[in-house]
Parts: sequence; structure tokens; C-alpha cells
Amino acid sequence: TERTLSIIKPDATSRNLTGKINAKFEEAGLRIVAQKRILLTKAQAGEFYKVHAERPFYDELCEFMASAPVVVQVLEGENAIAKNREVMGATNPADAAEGTIRAEFAQSVGENSVHGSDAPETAAEEIAYYFSGLELVG
Ligand code: GTP
Ligand code: MG
Repeated sequence: TERTLSIIKPDATSRNLTGKINAKFEEAGLRIVAQKRILLTKAQAGEFYKVHAERPFYDELCEFMASAPVVVQVLEGENAIAKNREVMGATNPADAAEGTIRAEFAQSVGENSVHGSDAPETAAEEIAYYFSGLELVG
């Protein structure tokens, strides 16, 4: 069993979609083993997304992630990283498969409702960025 870091982004929390998105994770067999709603500063969002610092959309991405609360969560399950990315769908909602979170809820390539870690190393780093060991129970 594996863990991944998921974020329900500002466009989704502000449209009151947290429960609908969590239902998608649970239907796919992912367990929400930690979860909290926080308001990131632009600096905190920038630190989290620093791998994208050279991309043209970086500033817009950081502004967006700090524009309203996010729900950060740890999802657990068999192949949780890949399974979560499958449930999320493609980054651009126009390319996302039917039934995925981004196909159903995302508004644009930027305001695309969810984030999910992309590999075991980044999952471990991203979980540690938002959660202490004490907040993580199986
Ligand atoms: P994450 O799970 O959020 O990391 O998405 P991803 O892995 O599917 O995409 P990627 O890591 O390539 O990009 C990170 C995030 O940057 C995306 O989820 C988008 O929110 C944002 N992003 C990516 N491309 C664009 C773009 O062309 N324009 C804007 N405004 N945002 C973008
Ligand atoms: Mg990514």
C-alpha cells in the first residue's frame, strides 16, 4: 500500500465540491487518512510548486493557489499515486477522460480542481510539507 498527497484546489473548494471530489477518491478505493482545510500564502504556494518556478504560468499558479482555501489530504491505497492520477484525469480538462474529476469539475488548465503527487519521492516530500507524523494515522 502506498500514500500520495492530494490537494483540492481553490476553484473546487469555493464551489463547495469537496464532498463530491472525496466521493470519487473513495469510490476508486483510496482512503483519506489525513485531511485539513488551509489558506496558503502565495509564498507557501510558491515553495510547494517551486519545480515550476521557470514556467510562464508560475506566478499565476501561485496567486491562484493562495486565492481561497485548499483541502490538503493524504490518500492511501494500492498504487495510490497512479490511481489518484487516473481519477484526477489529464491536467487540461479538455483532454481529461469522461468520469474523471477534471472532466467533471475543472474550469481550465490552471483552475483544474485537484493536485496529485507524481512519484513516490515527490509524494513523500509533499506529504511532509503539509503533515507531521502525528497527523498521520493508518
Ligand atoms: P498537479 O497535480 O497540480 O501537479 O497537476 P499536473 O501534474 O497534472 O500538472 P503539472 O505538474 O504539469 O502542472 C502543475 C499545475 O500547474 C497544473 O495542475 C495547473 O494547475 C498548472 N498549470 C499547468 N499548465 C498550465 C498552463 O498552461 N497555464 C496555467 N495557468 N496553469 C497551468
Ligand atoms: Mg504535477
